[in-house]
Amino acid sequence: MNKQFDLAHPIFKIISEAASELSFETYAVGGFVRDQLLGRNCKDIDFVCVGSGIELAQKATEKISDKPHVSYFKNFGTAQFRWNEFDFEFVGARKESYDRNSRKPVVEDGTLEDDQNRRDFTINAMAISLNKNSFGELVDPFNGVKDLEEKLIRTPLDPDITFSDDPLRMMRAIRFATQLDFKILPETFDAIKRNKERIKIISQERVTDELNKIILAKTPSIGFILLEECGLLEIIFPEFQKLKGVENYEGKGHKDNFYHTLQVLDNITKATNDLWLRWAAVLHDIAKPPTKKFVEGTGWTFHGHEVLGSKWVPKIFGRMKLPMGNEMKFVRKMVYLHLRPIALTKEEITDSALRRLLFEAGDDIENLLSLCEADITSKNREKVKRYLTRFEVVREKLKEVEEKDQVRNFQPPVTGELIMETFGIGPSREIGVIKEEIKEAILEGKIRNDYEEALKMMLELGEKLGLKKQSDVRSPKSEENTDNA
Ligand code: CTP
Repeated sequence: MNKQFDLAHPIFKIISEAASELSFETYAVGGFVRDQLLGRNCKDIDFVCVGSGIELAQKATEKISDKPHVSYFKNFGTAQFRWNEFDFEFVGARKESYDRNSRKPVVEDGTLEDDQNRRDFTINAMAISLNKNSFGELVDPFNGVKDLEEKLIRTPLDPDITFSDDPLRMMRAIRFATQLDFKILPETFDAIKRNKERIKIISQERVTDELNKIILAKTPSIGFILLEECGLLEIIFPEFQKLKGVENYEGKGHKDNFYHTLQVLDNITKATNDLWLRWAAVLHDIAKPPTKKFVEGTGWTFHGHEVLGSKWVPKIFGRMKLPMGNEMKFVRKMVYLHLRPIALTKEEITDSALRRLLFEAGDDIENLLSLCEADITSKNREKVKRYLTRFEVVREKLKEVEEKDQVRNFQPPVTGELIMETFGIGPSREIGVIKEEIKEAILEGKIRNDYEEALKMMLELGEKLGLKKQSDVRSPKSEENTDNA
């Protein structure tokens, strides 16, 4: 592991000088040190000094010509500023102990050692000296470098103390194991099992934030499997826990939906970095357990799981404090539609089925197709290949139909206004009936998605409904002609 730190950024010399003037021992700590050793970019740098973090930040900014604005958090004794696209945070070294019922720490001034002792993991408890006589030297009391090399997550102190002090760290352990593809030391993992209930004192937002980071990792299944093994999953996401397990009846089993969903999630990471499409993968089969039935002659069925699952999406998003706007609606729509493209690979594909799917998916069609492709999982490679080939055909056909009929962002070719004007009626049920029938006729391919054909159908429908045409209705085309004349 390369232990030559890149301290070329001018901030390090500036802080070193400021610290020396104040006679504060000062270090760069935490994630920055870890990421430097891993060769990862890090734009958030934390500094610890034996003294006042606020004074150090002030002194440092005095030395910068385009003096950045400093934010102070007096209650926590921290200061922060942004400069050259980097975020710098300053804190005085502290000795902390926690109240058992909350995360509010009882804080006293301390040494660098005290500060390192109270950090979460050995790989996050290293410091780089910014002191004049030892500038650039690593201070690694818990062998964090060795754990980085051995790809291990381990707490610096007794794990029961570290996790009980701040139970969010249980989620962080699993998140780092997922992001970095590290193992959690068995003693550390056992402590998570023992302390899992304490996750309940952590705010939902922070738990969800860690879960999102797991979902955004390259192989999210690592995190979900660990969450399940230690018992946290059952507490933070019971619906997902229930996907686990296989039932057998008359010698017939079904897929284990827990591992299937994780396979779909890992698959979709190759197609997208979008958190919400990844959440759609997480939730696509979430309502399989309550819809499961064994049907004689057919085997296991999960009828309607896409409908029930889509109904659960707002409930789960609400509880998880995920955004309830377009993000939630997108996931709900993906869950609702996730079986449709696959169904099209099984039957003779009709243009009207394709038009309907394009109409319902709208601009989200590409995302839906990515989800469905990710959903093709089987131990039988030949079967997967066969499905993917047939799926390509669906993709091609969708493209052809869209080019021809343009129903993806369907706008009714005749408007309610025009219907009212033509038949001299006010807002009424008939308008809805006419518009719906025209839309259906277009989707079924009975008429083209075109003003003239829709107008003709509108007049016929009006007549059938006993409506009287008021005056000649001009098409926008003829208006254009008149204007140009
Ligand atoms: N830390 C901790 N316990 C926590 C959160 C943070 O001990 N619950 C310490 C760790 O030493 C960590 C540092 O504070 O390295 C900075 O925390 P944060 O910025 O949240 O995490 P990073 O380790 O920098 O990693 P990331 O940016 O990926 O979250």
